[in-house]
Amino acid sequence: ELLEDMRDNFEQGLVPLSVYNDPELSEVELDRVFNRNWVFLAHESEIPEPGDYVLRTIGEDPWIVVRDESGTIRVLLDSCRHRGAQVCRADKGNTSHFRCPYHGWTYKNSGDLAGVPHRVESYRELDLKQWGLVKAPHVDTHRGLVFACLAADPPELSEYLGGIAWYLDVHLALTEFEVLGDPHRWVVGANWKIGAENFAGDSYHTESVHRSVVEVSLFPSILLKHGVAAQGKRHISGLGGHAANLNHDVGAPEEAQFWGYPSEVTEQFDAEGMDPAQYELAKWSKLSTGTVFPNLSYLCSAFVDAPGRPPGTVLMLRQWQPRGPAAMELWSWILVPKGASDEYKDRVARVATASFSPSGNFEEDDTAIWSTIARTAGSRYARSENLKLNYQMGMPGMAEIERDENWRGPGVALMSDLEDGGQRTVQRRWIEEMLRP
Ligand code: FES
Ligand code: FE
Repeated sequence: ELLEDMRDNFEQGLVPLSVYNDPELSEVELDRVFNRNWVFLAHESEIPEPGDYVLRTIGEDPWIVVRDESGTIRVLLDSCRHRGAQVCRADKGNTSHFRCPYHGWTYKNSGDLAGVPHRVESYRELDLKQWGLVKAPHVDTHRGLVFACLAADPPELSEYLGGIAWYLDVHLALTEFEVLGDPHRWVVGANWKIGAENFAGDSYHTESVHRSVVEVSLFPSILLKHGVAAQGKRHISGLGGHAANLNHDVGAPEEAQFWGYPSEVTEQFDAEGMDPAQYELAKWSKLSTGTVFPNLSYLCSAFVDAPGRPPGTVLMLRQWQPRGPAAMELWSWILVPKGASDEYKDRVARVATASFSPSGNFEEDDTAIWSTIARTAGSRYARSENLKLNYQMGMPGMAEIERDENWRGPGVALMSDLEDGGQRTVQRRWIEEMLRP
């Protein structure tokens, strides 16, 4: 009912508040959104060697992402085929085999069952080949990002990503990136969709929510001059459920180019690997965010860890992992150019932790508010009165926002970031997936 109400009101830009805290919808999402779309799991640099593994989730279910002895990345359901116990006992590590703690069934890191205690006397007929760990049917990577899809017959990953790949590559094709440290992860008392929508294009909130960090000078001055106040604000939609938000400033001085990366990093950027339009956009970019449906987002900007300190440019991947209707586990990876100096990488780690992390100034501004949405969305009154939220900003009839006809990237580029198009794109795709039988 709530879902139909969401669909019926979508064209008017009205969204039922209860959608952001509904136990039934959050059950259906696990099947229809998470278990049949391509879902991000890890960055390849987290598992460079054979035997390296990390434990991740698709929806709420545990999956092991492991590089097997032949170098192939496998995604294995972390559930022993004997009685179902989890066989992976750490968040990450290196192993040739996973040995189940319950009765000792032992699997190779390819998932194949290798050993069963007392097999000869008790299971003579057991066919080991039939009792390997369950493998995700589809695993693929895009520039180091590892994705899996559990649907039987999904589109290829490249087709699924479509135009958003172009915007990801504005970052990822510049040079080789690696994950710095372990991903931060913590629980936020809010529905996962709020995070996905926010990064898809809620530029509107920054002036209000993040005003205080600007006031205490936690935003580098170079960005204020050439970034936040820049002319080139674009919201990109028309990417089939994915969306991007860009802030660029053509003609900015060198220290403000490429999101403020220092010259020791920009020297290593390689225009060859990308379309000239992508390189051009990277060069003038100050701040980018985006969402890859359903629950992967990215952010790139410079921050400082304390007023007056030198800035560091943070490229971050974030994942909004559902944990019931009113909670998510937020995962956040810091990506740095592999060729940067250790000194610069240290600075980026500090700056990223001070801005977007469980102890980050920007982060707390957002997440403290998001959890109040979960509270009101779960209220009896919102449900009984069928309260609607307003997602009408910039809609035809509300504002005349011009389309950038000279835009060289995929999708529709609007020449303002004060509009709800990116967030509506995510919602539209969500409705489609939820209604697809
Ligand atoms: Fe794994 Fe029994 S549950 S060996
Ligand atoms: Fe924010």
